[in-house]
Amino acid sequence: MITVRPERAGDEAGVRRVNLAAFETAMEADLVDALRAAARPYVAFVAVDGDEIVGHVSFTPVTVGDADVGAMALAPLAVLPARQGQGIGSRLTREGLEYLRDDGCSFVVLVGHASYYPRFGFVPASHLGLTCQWPDVPDDVWLVAVLDPAEVPPNGGAVRFERAFGDTV
Ligand SMILES: CC(C)(COP(=O)(O)OP(=O)(O)OC[C@H]1O[C@@H](n2cnc3c(N)ncnc32)[C@H](O)[C@@H]1OP(=O)(O)O)[C@@H](O)C(=O)NCCC(=O)NCCS
Repeated sequence: MITVRPERAGDEAGVRRVNLAAFETAMEADLVDALRAAARPYVAFVAVDGDEIVGHVSFTPVTVGDADVGAMALAPLAVLPARQGQGIGSRLTREGLEYLRDDGCSFVVLVGHASYYPRFGFVPASHLGLTCQWPDVPDDVWLVAVLDPAEVPPNGGAVRFERAFGDTV
């Protein structure tokens, strides 16, 4: 049985293993370690099957035009290849978004698969006038889920991720 719970101390190696297995390079695994060290808040969840971590997602703050508007980015999301297609990524995403909504988060942005994320309420971020810090990111993969419409900047703005994301995505 799969359980989704907040990431906690001691999960680091298992989380790294999931990201190394799910992505082609170590970039995302390194990114998670850097975000854990630097981002405040660092909000992360793991999916566990018994003692094994089989999925992971992290959320870290973004700014809009240098202002803190209570928004977060979802990245990365990873599920062990052998466990993909079993609803684990969906649970991590849904439970993460629910936590953030209850916590007063305004909206969540991400750069991700255009066919996967709309099921969780993500729409093109350009609809809200939000621009991505990486100019080469196509419009259909630059996405936002609004959690508190009252807190979304009415004119959008330039979204900036944690420094650990670097200059490319
Ligand atoms: C993307 C990922 C997190 C999804 O997790 P999962 O547990 O396999 O997903 P779920 O079982 O909840 O959902 C399965 C759905 O995801 C879709 N999906 C999986 N990988 C996908 C991809 N690369 N692009 C688009 N859709 C994808 C499946 O087609 C399936 O769609 P369906 O329900 O319409 O049939 C997982 O496949 C993964 O770790 N992939 C490698 C790393 C990655 O690409 N992370 C996301 C970065 S944006």
